[in-house]
Amino acid sequence: MNKIVVEGVATTNPKLLAWVDEIAQLCKPARIHWCDGSQAEYDALCQKMVDAGTLIRLNEKKRPNSFLCRSDPADVARVEDRTFICSKRKSDAGPTNNWVDPREMKATLTEQFNGSMAGRTMYVVPFSMGPLGSHIAQIGIEISDSPYVVANMRIMTRMGKAVLDVLGDREDFVPCLHSVGKPLAPGEKDVAWPCNPKNIYIAHFPDDRAIWSYGSGYGGNALLGKKCLALRIASVMARDEGWLAEHMLIVGVETPEGEKTYVAAAFPSACGKTNFAMMKPPAGFEGWKVWTVGDDIAWIKPGHDGNLYAINPEAGLFGVAPGTGASTNANAIAACRANSIFTNVALTDDGDIWWEGLTDEKPAHLIDWKGRDWTPDCGQLAAHPNARFTAPMSQCPSVDPDWENPDGVQISAFIFGGRVSRDMPLVFQAFNWSHGVYLAATMGSEATAAATNQSGMRRDPMAMLPFCGYNMADYFSHWLSIGRKLSNPPRIFRVNWFRKDANGKFMWPGFGENMRVLKWVVDRARGRGYGVESPLGFMPRHEDIDWTKLDFPAEKFYELMTVDREAGTIEARAHEVHFEKFFDRLPKEFIYERELLKSRLWRSPDVWALSPSEVP
Ligand code: OXD
Ligand code: MN
Repeated sequence: MNKIVVEGVATTNPKLLAWVDEIAQLCKPARIHWCDGSQAEYDALCQKMVDAGTLIRLNEKKRPNSFLCRSDPADVARVEDRTFICSKRKSDAGPTNNWVDPREMKATLTEQFNGSMAGRTMYVVPFSMGPLGSHIAQIGIEISDSPYVVANMRIMTRMGKAVLDVLGDREDFVPCLHSVGKPLAPGEKDVAWPCNPKNIYIAHFPDDRAIWSYGSGYGGNALLGKKCLALRIASVMARDEGWLAEHMLIVGVETPEGEKTYVAAAFPSACGKTNFAMMKPPAGFEGWKVWTVGDDIAWIKPGHDGNLYAINPEAGLFGVAPGTGASTNANAIAACRANSIFTNVALTDDGDIWWEGLTDEKPAHLIDWKGRDWTPDCGQLAAHPNARFTAPMSQCPSVDPDWENPDGVQISAFIFGGRVSRDMPLVFQAFNWSHGVYLAATMGSEATAAATNQSGMRRDPMAMLPFCGYNMADYFSHWLSIGRKLSNPPRIFRVNWFRKDANGKFMWPGFGENMRVLKWVVDRARGRGYGVESPLGFMPRHEDIDWTKLDFPAEKFYELMTVDREAGTIEARAHEVHFEKFFDRLPKEFIYERELLKSRLWRSPDVWALSPSEVP
């Protein structure tokens, strides 16, 4: 131990000091650096990574204080098949998670971590998920041998000495251990992106609320505050303490009169959550504002007044770059104008970044994400499809003035949406809380664009399939029980932006036009919008949607909203198959909800359609 150089200890917390000591003895780093979170520390760390070839400093005029990073091509995304929920009982991980006995996993990983940081600096990263000191926030301590992780954690969380001050001598921090799994032998030259991609473990120990991650340096595998703590471990805390940790964006919708309504929405990964969270209202909605509280994760607690209050536990955006451009998400583009890290995007000849979809016109020459020359006709993608920008949330022009309110914002509606090309209407509202939970639990996206019926769906309940840290059937029951505690539960909606017509064309323009749907959602949540009872839920008529400056004829809208009896019945039967794996832990309410759905469809015409003449 006495050979290790230690810098910057700023705590006397006995439990924390003992844990850091234990990990240092196990991982055998050359140095230990306790992070203070300062700008000077960040700048020095980034310079060190530039010198080591891990980061490329971007053109200071075009992209101040920003860097490009290229990962190992074998380490580019979250790895769900190497993600484990190691609860004491297998049944508590449930049928949707990989489970390994915690003693066995700890024994395996102890061997892996033994000496894994040799020759490297072990960073101790104190971080808060949620505004510092908020009663909804949680403190984590990440130990990592990756300076890239440290730099990203400084953007994505509230990080540094101030967190240790809030923690004091308390023992309730979440220990998060991370190593890239590439020890350096004496004199061995390092590589730009050390990792151990054949030997990745992302292990969660929900009973001790601990995280051990080995082998990957990328995104959610390595920035342990995000998916590991804020979703998988937090979902377990939330189950035990009566709140919700959700894979949701949070937006505030403000009318020209200044009335503000907060909505939380869950869409599976890669269904446009960041775009929805930063939506620009379309022509016709002058004076309306959509404010961003969060784009990925929401922690939601019942307040004493029987309402739900949500915070965004993160402090930054870790957005998918490709497809994000000035026309699709100008707010995200503005957010990463400076002080940002870009991973696996392309480099322009003038030292800036580019990715598919950033601009309509492709540059004539680039260096691609693998560091090779690129031209528009070379037949290769310039950026990796999961390339990311890490940017401070505070730089997002639409950031809500209340985004750091320690008490959170009051949620009035939940929206759930998948990606479905057939039979699923644009929007409908659940009849009540239990029906809404059922709609959320059965949501999914088509596995492939070629799927010809609903059985080609990948079910992703509440968009939490890869992120629920316990048995998903218990999670459904937890959602039902939360509703029972509320005096005025938020209204629940299903949406689908992706329905296609007989020619395979999207029927709905999406992006900013989604504001029209959002306005109806807000109206309904406030008890003033109209909804017609359909077999699936309450639906807006054409005249219930604000079409100012958009020509969207009633016939086209009603086509978008039809419910096909046979397809709906096949879908309801598919719910049965989807739920089979949960056996008797599945809430009984779901059986009744399914039967009610089937009977509503049974009594409906072959094609149930709103029509201007029939509706009241
Ligand atoms: C993400 C994801 O990176 O959901 O946010 O995969
Ligand atoms: Mn996500």
